[in-house]
Amino acid sequence: MILVTGGAGFIGANFVLDWLATSDEPVLNLDKLTYAGNLHNLDSLQGDPRHVFVQADIGDSATLARLLAEHQPRAIVNFAAESHVDRSIHGPEDFIQTNVVGTFRLLEAVRQYWSGLPAIKKEAFRFLHVSTDEVYGTLHADAPAFTEVHPYEPNSPYSASKAASDHMVRAWHHTYGLPVLTTHCSNNYGPYHFPEKLIPLMIVNALAGKPLPVYGDGLQVRDWLYVKDHCSAIRRVLEAGQTGQTYNIGGWNEKPNIDIVHTICALLDELRPRADGQSYRAQITHVKDRPGHDRRYAIDARKIERELGWKPAETFDTGIRKTVQWYLANADWVASVQTGAYRDWVSKQYETA
Ligand code: NAD
Ligand code: DAU
Repeated sequence: MILVTGGAGFIGANFVLDWLATSDEPVLNLDKLTYAGNLHNLDSLQGDPRHVFVQADIGDSATLARLLAEHQPRAIVNFAAESHVDRSIHGPEDFIQTNVVGTFRLLEAVRQYWSGLPAIKKEAFRFLHVSTDEVYGTLHADAPAFTEVHPYEPNSPYSASKAASDHMVRAWHHTYGLPVLTTHCSNNYGPYHFPEKLIPLMIVNALAGKPLPVYGDGLQVRDWLYVKDHCSAIRRVLEAGQTGQTYNIGGWNEKPNIDIVHTICALLDELRPRADGQSYRAQITHVKDRPGHDRRYAIDARKIERELGWKPAETFDTGIRKTVQWYLANADWVASVQTGAYRDWVSKQYETA
């Protein structure tokens, strides 16, 4: 089996669902269930014996040691993190605790487990760390996209904490020989995206008749990848990546934020027109910029294509249409996330590990 951490969050849940749709290898899913973790994302796996969920913290060494000894995973995919830049600006402490201290404790528990494996299993074992393009910092408008050798220049508490975790993962490989793989992906979007992030926030606010808050001039550029393409890239790196290597993952979809918001408005105008006949664009409001806001991210994804033969399946046009349609079809999911009702359900349904 494989151990997935953070598998109740946006990308982790998509990964677990995709994994079990394409393979029968069981998943041990370890997630603390912070505000961002939602077991409803995994509703379709209820009663599936291939999915074992445990509510736990990656910083809880004793629980990690027990679970590793009990379940003997052949690989770990580490998604668990605090992930929202704006929250990291308001309160960096949680980011240091999970992304830095938590990753350290996870690495140590894994190292201990891995050291005790028989030679063949030790050789085959993999620890895949899911990082971000944000560790590379910001790009000028005409600069080439980030390659894997771009210097680390993190600018937010979030990206600094992810950079720290990447450095530890690298060091655990060089010092202890732990067979690690690190991926750096650009901005994801798709089903189960928590509506604090740009794309789901704009869809949800538009439908609720609320303002669409664009930071500053809205000309900051992000490079978008449909979440299921990120999942397929991680599966490919896990399968064929070279240990100690890092892989950039992206879809060659650089877009200014304001264009993203206009695209969402156009799709909603088509699929769920406003009652008053006006465009959703009327709800766009420019608000105060994010402090230290990175101007542009762009991923050069040639290495993963060249070495591992991976390419995204979705274009931005197909992916964003699917995403808007998913939010229109899943108003209950949005409502439960917003009211926190899913949290009550979780405490009734599960015990803390
Ligand atoms: P998310 O915030 O939606 O989910 C994070 C999950 O981790 C949640 O289920 C949460 O409960 C869990 N978690 C948090 N702290 C934990 C802890 N201490 N122990 C165990 N579980 C914990 O995040 P996401 O957008 O799904 O991102 C997943 C990973 O991918 C993160 O490492 C993030 O840095 C990285 N990443 C995200 C993007 C993106 O666009 N969202 C892009 C590139 C990389
Ligand atoms: O690049 C990968 C990263 O993408 C991941 O590592 C992070 O976990 C993920 O949250 C994301 O970070 P961003 O800061 O790029 O994503 P966010 O959705 O918060 O913002 C995208 C852009 O939209 C950014 O330039 C800020 C802007 N924005 C965001 C919000 C929430 C707005 O203009 N208005 C908003 O209300």
